[in-house]
Amino acid sequence: MKPKIRLEDVKELKIERKVFDERTLLAIYKLLNKGIIKSVEGVAKEGKESVVFSAKDKNDNWLALKVYRAEYCDFKSMWKYLVGDPRFSSVKKSRRAVILNWCKREFKNLTIAHEAGVSCPKPIAFNENILVIEFIGEDGKLAPRLIDVKLENRDKQGVYEFILNEVEKILRSGLIHSDLSAYNILIWGKPYIIDFSQAVPLKHQLASEFLRRDIKNVNSYFKALNVKIKNEEELFKRFSAMAGLE
Ligand SMILES: Nc1ncnc2c1ncn2[C@@H]1O[C@H](COP(=O)(O)OP(=O)(O)O)[C@@H](O)[C@H]1O
Ligand SMILES: [Mg+2]
Repeated sequence: MKPKIRLEDVKELKIERKVFDERTLLAIYKLLNKGIIKSVEGVAKEGKESVVFSAKDKNDNWLALKVYRAEYCDFKSMWKYLVGDPRFSSVKKSRRAVILNWCKREFKNLTIAHEAGVSCPKPIAFNENILVIEFIGEDGKLAPRLIDVKLENRDKQGVYEFILNEVEKILRSGLIHSDLSAYNILIWGKPYIIDFSQAVPLKHQLASEFLRRDIKNVNSYFKALNVKIKNEEELFKRFSAMAGLE
């Protein structure tokens, strides 16, 4: 159904229309009409496959809008990732279907993780290729990623251990992040794990491989910072036993 478009909504977008394709624009109008967002404030971060916008809700709380760019994504490899996930095994191999389900998967994953108490943005809503989540940062300025911050010596060990504890919580929630790195962790008072679009359930065929890769990424990052890291094999064994992976 075509959403009702009001003139004031168009004004509230504050964004040049050309940033969005027609369908994305309609999806944004729908979020405005549903009262989930009140305004889109600006482009906060432009990536290859997604653009993150700062937005506000009716109480002037900041929100992050992650818009997947259907036209630029490598939907064939995304489709492979998606259908490997038992929850999405029947997704059609079309650009549109892949992008919609990619967004839906991130929303589902964030919901599971957030309910399990993982330090991650709270999911608010999704519509088509747009994900609405809690804004990590202040006044429309995004929190820096772990890769962007220089941690104080006294904080390094604690941040490393905090992140390992989040990996454990994510596992306990039944998921493996599968793309964990210093690029997908924000530091805002504490670490926040973001970018759950690739997270898969424990019964995924490649679950062990993904878990190992996540642990390896975290360990290598902190090892280079001279943090006393835990043995990778032991971590892997402990985590996989806990998660019931063979
Ligand atoms: N909820 C959020 N709060 C603040 N910044 C965010 C949030 N979500 C994403 N970002 C920023 O946008 C960037 C891209 O988001 P991400 O989810 O990692 O998507 P991508 O798949 O493009 O890597 C992140 O590196 C981060 O800087
Ligand atoms: Mg990312």
